[in-house]
Amino acid sequence: MNQPRSTPRVVAVRTPSKHYDILIGHGLLGSAPSWQGLPRCTHAVLVSNPTVFALHGEQALASMRAMAPRTSQVLLPDGEAYKDWSNLNTVFDHLLREGCDRKAMLFALGGGVVGDMAGFAAACYMRGVPFVQLPTTLLAQVDSSVGGKTAINHPLGKNMIGAFQQPERVLCDLATLATLPPRELRAGLAEVIKYAPIADPALMDWLEAHLDALLAGDAEALAHAVQRSCEIKADVVGSDERESGRRAILNFGHTFGHAIEAGLGYGQWLHGEAVGCGMVIAATLSADLGLITRAFAERVARLVQRAGLPVEAPALGLDRWFELMAVDKKAEAGDTRYVLIDAPGSATLRAVPRTLVEAAIRRHTVAPRAGAALPA
Ligand code: NAD
Ligand code: GLY
Repeated sequence: MNQPRSTPRVVAVRTPSKHYDILIGHGLLGSAPSWQGLPRCTHAVLVSNPTVFALHGEQALASMRAMAPRTSQVLLPDGEAYKDWSNLNTVFDHLLREGCDRKAMLFALGGGVVGDMAGFAAACYMRGVPFVQLPTTLLAQVDSSVGGKTAINHPLGKNMIGAFQQPERVLCDLATLATLPPRELRAGLAEVIKYAPIADPALMDWLEAHLDALLAGDAEALAHAVQRSCEIKADVVGSDERESGRRAILNFGHTFGHAIEAGLGYGQWLHGEAVGCGMVIAATLSADLGLITRAFAERVARLVQRAGLPVEAPALGLDRWFELMAVDKKAEAGDTRYVLIDAPGSATLRAVPRTLVEAAIRRHTVAPRAGAALPA
C-alpha cells in the first residue's frame, strides 16, 4: 500500500447520533493510516458501479483486504435511473448470499448515487450495519457523503425512501477526481459555490479568486474547496442532524433546481447544473425582496456562469414551475418557504408571494423559440 503524499486534512463531524471524521487528501484510498481505527469487521463489502470500480476499485479493495478477513464487492448499474428499490435489493441479495452478519461493514465507492444506495442499504440491513463513504465525485466529496442522508428514488419522487445513517468515516481521495469527466466536476462546483452565499462570505472571495484553478483541477485549490465545504456542512449538520430547521439552508437553489430536473426529465441536466441555475434565481429573488444587494446577487450568478453552469432556465411554463415546486416543497419543508440569502453568508427560509417568485423565474428564463408555446 502506498504511503500518503501528505497528512490528510481532517474535518470532524459531531452529530447527536455519531461522531466521525472526514479525511481529505491525495491517495487516501491506498493509504493505510487513513483506514486505521475503523470498527473491526468480519466482512468488508465494497459497493460501487462498473465505471468507478474499473478506475479505483482495486485500490479500495486492497485497503479493505488489509483490515478485514473477508472482502467482496457488489456492483450496481451506473446512473440515477438505477437508484431504486430493485437495485437496492441487489445489495441485500449479495449480503445474504455471502452470509454477512451485523459485523459486516459496507464501503461506498462512487458518487452520490452509490453513496446514497450503500448508505441506505447499511441503514436497513439487519437493522443497521456500519458503513464508510469513499466519495469519488466532487459533488459527493463536498455534499452527499457528509451528513447521513441516504435514499433511493420512488417513481413518484426523488429521494423519497431513505434513512438518516451517519457513516463511520468519509475518505475524500482527491486523486479520484482526476478521472472525473469535466461536466461532472463543474456540476460538483455548484454545491461548493452554494456554501459561500449561505454561510461564508470569505469563501465567496476565495472562489472568485480560485475558480479557474478549480476548473483546471489544481490539487491545492480542490483540497481547500472540499475542506471548507465539509467544514460548513459539518457545522450545519452538527446543529440540525435531522433537518428540523437550519439544515434546510443547504437546499439553497434546490427548489428551483429540482423543478428544472423534473420538468425537463431526469438526466437532461445534471443535478449540479440545475442547482447552479436555481441558485441564480434564488439570489435574484433575495435581491428583489431587498434582503441583499443586486450586486451580491450578480456575484452569485457570475460565479455560477464562470463555473460553466447554466444561468438561464428552460421555459417550463410558470404553472408547471409551481406544480413541480409544490411537490418538492411538500417533500422537503412541508410548506412553501424558499431558501433565501438574507445577508452575504447567511440564509433564511421565507414564504414569498407568488408574483415575486414568478418575476425571478421570468428574469432568468430563456425566451421560447418563435412559434413555440409561451410560458403560462
Ligand atoms: P453520480 O453518483 O451519478 O456520479 C456521476 C457520474 O460520475 C457517474 O456516471 C459515475 O459513475 C461517475 N463517476 C463517479 N466518480 C468518478 C470518477 N472518480 N471518475 C470517473 N467517473 C466517475 O452523481 P453525483 O453527482 O456524484 O451524485 C448525485 C446523487 O447524489 C443524486 O442521486 C443526489 O440525489 C444525491 N445527493 C445526495 C445528497 C445527500 O445528502 N445524501 C446530497 C446531494 C446529492
Ligand atoms: N444536501 C442537503 C443535505 O444534506 O441536507
